[in-house]
Amino acid sequence: ALKEQIAAQISAASDLNALEEVRVSTLGKKGSVSQLMKGLGGMSPEERKEMGPALNGLKNKVAEEIAARKETLEEAALDARLRDERVDVTLPVQEHASGSVHPISQVMDEIAEIFASLGFDVAEGPDVESDFHNFTALNIPEEHPARQDHDTFYLRPDANGDRKVLRTHTSPVQIRTMLSKEPPIRIIAPGRTYRSDSDATHTPMFHQVEGLVIDKDTHLGHLKGTLEAFLKAFFEVDAVTLRLRPSYFPFTEPSMEVDVQCSFDGGTVKIGDGNDWLEILGSGMVNVNVLKACNLDPNEYQGFAFGCGIDRLAMLKYGMNDLRAFFDADLRWLRHYGFRA
Ligand code: PHE
Repeated sequence: ALKEQIAAQISAASDLNALEEVRVSTLGKKGSVSQLMKGLGGMSPEERKEMGPALNGLKNKVAEEIAARKETLEEAALDARLRDERVDVTLPVQEHASGSVHPISQVMDEIAEIFASLGFDVAEGPDVESDFHNFTALNIPEEHPARQDHDTFYLRPDANGDRKVLRTHTSPVQIRTMLSKEPPIRIIAPGRTYRSDSDATHTPMFHQVEGLVIDKDTHLGHLKGTLEAFLKAFFEVDAVTLRLRPSYFPFTEPSMEVDVQCSFDGGTVKIGDGNDWLEILGSGMVNVNVLKACNLDPNEYQGFAFGCGIDRLAMLKYGMNDLRAFFDADLRWLRHYGFRA
């Protein structure tokens, strides 16, 4: 009867844990079969001769049945695992999200590429700039009124009393380039610039691209030709008409602001011909004082420089109407205007 009872328990064990419980309760130290075996010690030799083989047979039988059941349960467990972990190769692919190139980065790349084709290298300078590079060497000394025009962000002075600034324009890269390279120089310097100014058309951080050419016989015609070639390529038009208006910058003499002919139709600006003019950049011939500050002999070298707001160029080219959208990190806007890498 015990034999049948145990056999029933073994086949009722539905998983490996339940089976282990049955094993402990039968063959374990205090298990039913083990208890019976212990009883053999107190029997007479005759009884033991009879019961011994029977109990041994029971013990072996139970062990065999448990082992067989174990194998069955393990196979079932493996089957279940294989079923659960199967990869369904027919499921549709989950497309992972990918970013896009920000329009400002895209436009910077386009500008760099156009100027590369004109023989310009890309130069860089730090955003946190010395007063010397941002102002003094650019012919803007301490008391110069132009300093007030720039709404400068100043950093706390260091131990020597030197006060760094967030560069207010990319023009300090002119200085860094002239101090570190021999002419002929042909560079552009795109990058971030900062002014404490914030409204619908100004953000405290914005982008400019500087241009600088220094050589032995560079003149205004080269400046105009370079800008025309650049603007034609950038706006992808056959011709542009420029208007050079006399202006003033401490670091150029003469200085001029450059307007491009365009038409404003229905809220969009078309660069090319038309009855309107759009101011796009400041420029001029590098001031003699700037050449001197960079240890260049003005009798040997001269050149031109220009500085242009990149954000506005991007808005014009891609028909964006809100400058602040560039810096809002609105994913819908970025998906719409971003460029595939
Ligand atoms: N740095 C000037 C500005 O930020 C632009 C400029 C650059 C003008 C180079 C002339 C020459 O307004």
